[in-house]
Order: sequence, then C-alpha cells, then structure tokens
Amino acid sequence: HQPWPGLITAYRDRLPVCDTWAPGWEPVTLREGATPLLPARALSELTGCDVHLKVEGLNPTGSFKDRGMTMAVTEAKATGKKGVLCASTGNTSASAAAYASIAGLECAVLVPAGKIAMGKLAQAVMYGAKIIEVDGNFDDCLELARKTTATFDTISLVNSVNPVRIEGQKTAAFEIVDALGKAPDVHALPVGNAGNITAYWRGYSEYFADGISSSRPRMLGVQAAGAAPLVNGAPVKDPETIATAIRIGSPASWNQAVAAKDESNGQFRAATDEKLLEAYRLVAKTEGVFVEPASAASVAGLLAATADGWIEKGSTVVCTVTGNGLKDPDTALSSLPEIARVGIDPVAVAAAMGLTE
Ligand code: F0G
Repeated sequence: HQPWPGLITAYRDRLPVCDTWAPGWEPVTLREGATPLLPARALSELTGCDVHLKVEGLNPTGSFKDRGMTMAVTEAKATGKKGVLCASTGNTSASAAAYASIAGLECAVLVPAGKIAMGKLAQAVMYGAKIIEVDGNFDDCLELARKTTATFDTISLVNSVNPVRIEGQKTAAFEIVDALGKAPDVHALPVGNAGNITAYWRGYSEYFADGISSSRPRMLGVQAAGAAPLVNGAPVKDPETIATAIRIGSPASWNQAVAAKDESNGQFRAATDEKLLEAYRLVAKTEGVFVEPASAASVAGLLAATADGWIEKGSTVVCTVTGNGLKDPDTALSSLPEIARVGIDPVAVAAAMGLTE
C-alpha cells in the first residue's frame, strides 16, 4: 500500500504539468486531495435521495483551495517566480500562504478589511504571509491583484483566474466518480468567484469524454441571496452575506459557470442567510460534519431543490462541503446554547445530561 502522494503525482497524466517548466521541477505538495466521500444518512433519509458529502474541509489547510494551490505554486516555482499574490475571502489566502511557505516563495494576500473569518486570518499569519487589508470587497481585491501581477512579472497571480488552479480543482470530480463507480445525477456546490463549479464540470466532462463515466451530473450552483449575481443575471455591487467566503458580486469565471449550468441542464439557486445557517447547523448535528457557513450552501440547495422537485427522489446527489467549520468559530458560537456549570459532582453531570436513571 503506497501512501497518497498528493494530486499532481496521483493525476499527473491528466494535468497540464511540465510543458514549459524548468527541467527537474518537483510538485509543491502537502498531500492534498483524496478527501472522503461520506454517505450522508440523515440527509438521505430527509430528502429520499442517495446523498454524499465530498468533505473538502479535510484538505491540509481546511478547504478545496489546496487542490488548485498545489498546481499554482508548483507552476510559480517551476517558472522562476519570486512571489505569489492572491485576492481572497480567506481560504485562498490560507492555502496560498501554506504552499508558498514550503516552496520558499514570498506570499502576500489581499483581503477585504474586516470581512474574513478569524481562523483563516490566523492561518495566513502562522504560515507567514504578508497580510494586506483592502478598503473594499473581494472584487476590488481581485482587480488590485490582477493589476499588480500584470505590472510585476516576478509575482504570480494564484487566484482561480490562473488556469492551472482550475486544473488542480477538477480532480475532486475524478475522485467522486472513482468512489461512486459512476457520476452522480446531481452535483451541488457553493458558488462565489465560480472557479470551483468550472473545475468540477471540467473534471466530470473529461471522465465522460474518456468513457470512464457514462453520464455527467446536473450542476446545482448555490449562491448566498445577498451575493447572487449568477442567479440575478447581473453583478451585485455591494454583496452582503454571513457566508463571507462567497461574499462576491462579480465572479471572474462567470461565462464558464453559465456554460457548466447550461451544458449540464443545471441550475443556479440562491439561499438566504437564514437557510444557510439552518443547513450549517443541520449538517453538523446530523452528519457529524462541521463546515463553514458558505459550505452549507450546497446542502441548503439540496434541501430546497428536493422540496420543490427539481431533484427527484431516488437521485444520487453529491454535495461538496468546501471548507472546515473551525475556520469560522465566531459564527458557530454566535448561537451558543446555555452552558451548564457544575461542581466536581458526578450526579450533577448526569443530571445535566438528563441521564440520571
Ligand atoms: N466555499 C468556500 C469555503 C470558499 O472559500 C469559496 C471561495 C467558495 C466556496 C466558492 O468557490 O469561488 O470557486 O466559486 N473562496 C475564495 C477565497 C473566493 O478567496 O477563498 P468559487
């Protein structure tokens, strides 16, 4: 039994590596990928579908971004860049910072001031990135990152507008088909900057084209209601949602996301913050999977789409849960139940549990 080598080595024949890179380049990897596809018993029972969770919060920095970042930072190093730069709502910055640290590259992250979850900021600090707060939202940060990297060519842009990011992220779809032995009927995932829906659709389409799967899923892209440009069909100037990871008004991969939806006979849907938080609590309490609020968008979408019949009973559905709940403790603790306090007294403990009989 070989240990998992990380995505680039595992899927090397399906990734655009090496063509113009320095001879002797090596993958910059934290052994990302190979995340669990967890059968979701409670959600299956609730919806009448066969529901699975692709638990991307178990990647090395706690989100799916690591799949793209191993490619982007490997490329940056192999092409002689000195530093990497990204705009981020938090997860991309944590991932870029970690991979840059092992690659020995400078890393700076542009984040919307006051609008990223504490855990993500803590990660970027610990991995040693230069944190730069911008007076603006994610869309402003991305514009600034694009301008900076267009002007200074020793700095590589590692947002998902970098094509190798999408290539790395498509491997999640390969893993799902490999695990299920087929493509699901529906794939639900949160959509912010729209890189990930683009990546999944590419992954499913490549396996389909090569005859590894005999179908492709309908893609269900779920946005937060206050940041739902793809649902509205127009950019949102001042996006707002508790799900800060997807607080994005002008997705960079707009056209690719629309293509994924159209070609798959899929759908974009919006979930209110209230519905996001409901799904966020449900998936933790009933499936034992603690995700961040944005990640629960896929589950909120599943619940809405099974309720109104867009997803038929009996369907096989995969929900990607994109990031780890520990990244955003503030949201988790904002609805803290009453905490019991006892002396050193076993009876009091059992009483607090309601199990004294
Ligand atoms: N879920 C989480 C937890 C995210 O962090 C993101 C994006 C998404 C979903 C949406 O993915 O942008 O490919 O549509 N986070 C980016 C960041 C924007 O900076 O970390 P997308």
